[in-house]
Amino acid sequence: MSIQWFPGHMNVTKKAIAERIKDIDVVIELLDARLPGSSANPMLAEMTGHRRRLKVLNKQDMADIARTEAWLAHYNALPDTKAIGLDASEPRPAQRLLQACRELAPHRSSMTKPLRLMICGVPNVGKSTLMNTLAGRKAAKTGDEAGVTRIEQRINLADDVYLFDTPGMLWPKIIVDKAGYHLAASGAVGRNAYDEEEVALELINSLKGPYADRLVARFKLADPDTIPQRHDEELLEEIGRRRGAVMSGGRVNMQKASEVALNDFRDLSLGRITLETPEEFSAWLAAAEAI
Ligand code: G4P
Repeated sequence: MSIQWFPGHMNVTKKAIAERIKDIDVVIELLDARLPGSSANPMLAEMTGHRRRLKVLNKQDMADIARTEAWLAHYNALPDTKAIGLDASEPRPAQRLLQACRELAPHRSSMTKPLRLMICGVPNVGKSTLMNTLAGRKAAKTGDEAGVTRIEQRINLADDVYLFDTPGMLWPKIIVDKAGYHLAASGAVGRNAYDEEEVALELINSLKGPYADRLVARFKLADPDTIPQRHDEELLEEIGRRRGAVMSGGRVNMQKASEVALNDFRDLSLGRITLETPEEFSAWLAAAEAI
């Protein structure tokens, strides 16, 4: 899928992060718990080198609990890395973040040697929401568009802990096709950058194996046992039919069917879902790198 990003803009961010990273002890990477692999920016690993990192699986209230556990275990097994789940209902996110970051960098814990954190995340992972909670105020929502200047925020989480916002917008970098589709399905990608039917078909493809029962329950699909084996197009068409997205002549309006599938995923009508497992994502990455 081709997504229209702004490489020039990304380069500005890259440069800004490279300058800031020199003074950072722990990089906090905010990920969408529904798509942890796809919402990670592979460029960040290059830019932040061997810095210790805290992976935050945000919006965990929308994700599959068992799969979140699997992702946390996967990340916690990596060197110099910790992972926690979080969501906007957390009453004191600062405490959870602080505890994990202090464990990652115990040598930075005084006024003369403050713990310096940087938070990064692609659009829509909930970074503004979290930053506003941490700052204890409603900061202006920064723009996602190219050319919108972002002002770097610094929040003192404690007397000896500084948290810096990403200097510049961290765009997703799509190296795995599936990741592009998952990002689009989650709402992280502007609507004019993708074809909804293409994204809905890939969403159905990711759901029909692990979440066939949810599709059946929600859309009253026929022949429940055959769902994982059926073609994505056929399933989307049936979803459209069940929802009355039928045009004159009896043909299914695939655009409407796509909107139904995407909206039902995004607003949790299909329940808590995680679109990928660590094993699946590693396999996609390996396949993309082999090309
Ligand atoms: P960003 O800065 O990373 O781009 O993300 P932002 O905080 O703007 O959040 C994107 C959307 O995700 C917002 O919804 C926000 O309310 C929602 N969100 C953030 N954190 C969580 C969370 O932990 N759980 C859930 N369920 N949702 C979360 P929106 O509909 O775009 O805007 P709004 O009208 O809700 O503010």
